Amino acid sequence: SLTIRNDVAGNASFSTLYGYMYEDINRSGDGGLYAEMIRNRAFQMNDTGGAPDLSYYSSINSGGASSSIHLDSTVPLNNVLTHTLRLDVSKIASGGRAGFSNEGFWGIRVQPKETYNASFWAKSNKFTGPLTISLESSSGKVLATATISSISSTFKQYSVTLKPSVTQVSTENVFVISTSSSSAAGSSIWFDVISLFPPTYKSRKNGLRADIAQILADTKPSFFRFPGGNNIEGQTIESRWKWNETIGPIETRPGRLGDWGYMNTDGQGLLEYLEMCEDLNMAPLLGVWAGYSLNKQSVPQADLDPYVQDTLNELEYIMGDASTTYGSMRVRDGHPEPFDLKYVEVGNEDFFSTTYDYRYKAWYDAIKKVYPNLQIIATGLETSTPIKTLDDHYYMNGPDMIAAWSKYDNYPRNDSTVMVGEYATNVNGCCGTSPADMQAAIADAIFALGLERNSDLVQFAAYAPTFTRDGQAQWNPDLISFNTAIVWGTPSYYVQQMWSANRADTILGVNATGGGYGPLYWVAGQKSSTKQVFLKVANYGSSPQTVAIKVAGPRVHSQGVSIVLNGAATANNTVSSPNNVVPKTSTFSVSSNTFNFTFPAWSAGVLMLHNL
Ligand code: AHR
Repeated sequence: SLTIRNDVAGNASFSTLYGYMYEDINRSGDGGLYAEMIRNRAFQMNDTGGAPDLSYYSSINSGGASSSIHLDSTVPLNNVLTHTLRLDVSKIASGGRAGFSNEGFWGIRVQPKETYNASFWAKSNKFTGPLTISLESSSGKVLATATISSISSTFKQYSVTLKPSVTQVSTENVFVISTSSSSAAGSSIWFDVISLFPPTYKSRKNGLRADIAQILADTKPSFFRFPGGNNIEGQTIESRWKWNETIGPIETRPGRLGDWGYMNTDGQGLLEYLEMCEDLNMAPLLGVWAGYSLNKQSVPQADLDPYVQDTLNELEYIMGDASTTYGSMRVRDGHPEPFDLKYVEVGNEDFFSTTYDYRYKAWYDAIKKVYPNLQIIATGLETSTPIKTLDDHYYMNGPDMIAAWSKYDNYPRNDSTVMVGEYATNVNGCCGTSPADMQAAIADAIFALGLERNSDLVQFAAYAPTFTRDGQAQWNPDLISFNTAIVWGTPSYYVQQMWSANRADTILGVNATGGGYGPLYWVAGQKSSTKQVFLKVANYGSSPQTVAIKVAGPRVHSQGVSIVLNGAATANNTVSSPNNVVPKTSTFSVSSNTFNFTFPAWSAGVLMLHNL
């Protein structure tokens, strides 16, 4: 039996406990969370970081037209985007058309009642228009069309809206720019930053794919750690994530070969991440590059200054007012208000390095001098500078994750806190080659219960990685999957959702009789603003467990609500069965603060009681 001790004071729980860790891995940024639908929109580089090419574009000639497309490296848009797509038109007969299409990121989703914003930069040596902009099915059915009536001889940006009148969602579509005008014959037209956006989350310009942002919002996350993870570090020092190359108009961003082997447009850059935090009500937790790259190269101590200064510039961009150099750039970029940044993490996984001591000190001292109130998070233990918050990462098999559930029970309680900035049960062991199944989710659930039980100390916890595009993973398991059509949660996602969306502000003691932890694990808490009492329980076993439960203390309502996730140990959610394992909500009766509850095999659930 379990007795929830709502009759004695518990420990305060950090309100920031559950959030997200995000980086562009598994094709989660470009072609995923970032809503841009055109692939290779600006010819920044090829898909794997090599010389730019015209991948994902195809030439269109019909009705006797003759034209060709070429990558032109002699006619740049500007000094950042130095390659353009050139359409050479030789001939257009009456009724014909010449142009090109872009296939998008594994297709282009067209949905009923949506309006799409298309834009591009273009100029021509002779042709003055018109151009036709269209969304078409791969088999050539025109879904929406718009016209640009005149084209300039110098680069200008053109924009249209496309309003398909469709009744069904489809993804096998292309975006087309073409002309049927015979006056185009003999001319060349240059294009760059060819862009197509669907309606975005909270209608942000250059924003997020709404369904993917919504599944994050559904867990009511408190913080957002970005931009990595490995993806901040660079394979080399030179190829690190550079904040200043991710800001400003998208036509001034060079893009970068990300650390997961594919190019990042950086269309989703520093400002967009911060705006995302605003839109999802998450506290930004900014990872700053700290002198170390994935090839284990460290910036020597004597050479650190410019890199440290670069972080200070970044912080000024985020928090400075309009009178500051970098703050004024943020104002220019459309965000007059400084962001409320409270947390900065120095580096990523610096426990792999031997130089963190001097690097951490350099960043810590410089940041604290200007921003004494910022909370600095360290990623390596060996430092002579005091650590306020340490970021611990856990990728282990189920039994090891469960063994780690009590890791923080006996940690010293002083002024320092813990961030578990990445964790996930990898049933095959570390790292990244395991299924996202039920037994992994239940081990995650138990590990997270251990963090919640210790959430007077553990300030932040995030599963990692957060996303994968179906079929494009560099790392498994992940919390959320998507393809061009849909997004769905893994069983672990639903654990996060249950745990995060039902949060206590105080952790309560629980007395157990008739058996200790295993296969059942639990944590109890209460939330004073709603007078709710929560009992979260996970069953890591193949037999159901019935428990007599009592709430000591104030009377609770005679009806409780349960949300329970359960399924076979190897059950998971897939593209063909995305809702195979989802939580179910029910009610149960409570008599004089007591009730029995049966926790199914391989289950995680939250029981909610309400003080009268
Ligand atoms: O989450 C995947 C990777 O695991 C992260 O990028 C890195 O920080 C860790 O090694």
